[in-house]
Amino acid sequence: MFETIQKQPADKILALVQAFKNDPRPDKIDLGVGVYKNADGVTPIMRAIKTAEKQLWEAETTKSYTGLAGDPAFSDAMIELVLGAAVPRANVAAVATPGGTGAVRQAFDMAKLANPDLRVFVSNPTWPNHLSILKHMALEMVPYRYFDDATCGVDFDAMMTDLAQARKGDLVLLHGCCHNPTGANLNLTQWQAVIDLLLKTGATAMIDIAYQGFGDGLEEDAAATRMIAAALPETLIAASCSKNFGIYRERTGILMAVAADSGAQALNQGTLNYLNRQNFSFPPDHGARLVTMVLTDPQLRADWAAELEEVRLSMLGLREQMAQELQRLSGSDRFGFLAQHRGMFSRLGVSPELVETLRADFGVYMVGDSRMNIAGLNKTTVPVLAEAIIKAGG
Ligand code: LMR
Repeated sequence: MFETIQKQPADKILALVQAFKNDPRPDKIDLGVGVYKNADGVTPIMRAIKTAEKQLWEAETTKSYTGLAGDPAFSDAMIELVLGAAVPRANVAAVATPGGTGAVRQAFDMAKLANPDLRVFVSNPTWPNHLSILKHMALEMVPYRYFDDATCGVDFDAMMTDLAQARKGDLVLLHGCCHNPTGANLNLTQWQAVIDLLLKTGATAMIDIAYQGFGDGLEEDAAATRMIAAALPETLIAASCSKNFGIYRERTGILMAVAADSGAQALNQGTLNYLNRQNFSFPPDHGARLVTMVLTDPQLRADWAAELEEVRLSMLGLREQMAQELQRLSGSDRFGFLAQHRGMFSRLGVSPELVETLRADFGVYMVGDSRMNIAGLNKTTVPVLAEAIIKAGG
């Protein structure tokens, strides 16, 4: 019977990973999938995670099931990391999920239970898998304008005009920090205006926060999420531990549903547990346990935060080097936005043809919309890439 299934489209980002692997050129540069790499091109296991893993190996006595929501200590630690003291803990329902993507999927599922005719407002552009999941779930997507091709910043007026069309029963998907794929972000004044607009329209906010600590710092990157959760009566938050704890393959994420009071929280917790049970039953535990150990042990936490800060600063350094190099080669400031963008990605704002030339002629792999993973660079490859961009006509 399976011959009746239409061939599914390949994921653009994952297809790029394969194409890069297949390329025999030794000097090829991988700026595709969002995985952090150090200056040697290695994705390291963070020191605190390695230590926690050793401790866990010694201390763990059972692999029996946790609860449907995962270990409550993981929820507590992550709610504190993401939300700080912005909302009462008693108002937050949470479940561990397989990665941030699992949380995104559960969030859409929950919203669909609430409103079968759900419309989801998504930034144009957004992470391609947001769109793919929504399509798979046959949910209606409403793109809102976000990126200004001319400035490579946020087209805030257009964004606000489009979001004004949202209404109660709609979900508005926002990137908490480090917008993927563009790297262009709102400032706090703009976030406040978005909050005021959401309050006016009655739409529900859903925040995807996958890069906390990669932009301006752990606290700074959570600021918008905290403002939104504190101001709106209900907010969904999908958070990933893949990047900031470097535990990509452990599939560690969490979905939080912030409610206005503890009565609504109890209902939400039941809904989230139910959704976990239907979709995969118990969530993975290993990564969640490591995260909990790191966040609750002051020494491990300090070491983790210090290493994360090193990662953040190295990406910022590469951004500045890249902007300067392009300024020198092009004689113009038109790539200055690279130093303003935050997070792992920047959209370079060049044509798909130029992206293809970079791949074919220079062995540079970036996503077709010209999203590049800054962490795929190092001090030596920045000038090589800058020269390739200019030579290719950028
Ligand atoms: C990315 O955008 O490259 C990452 O979030 C990895 C992925 O799963 O696509």
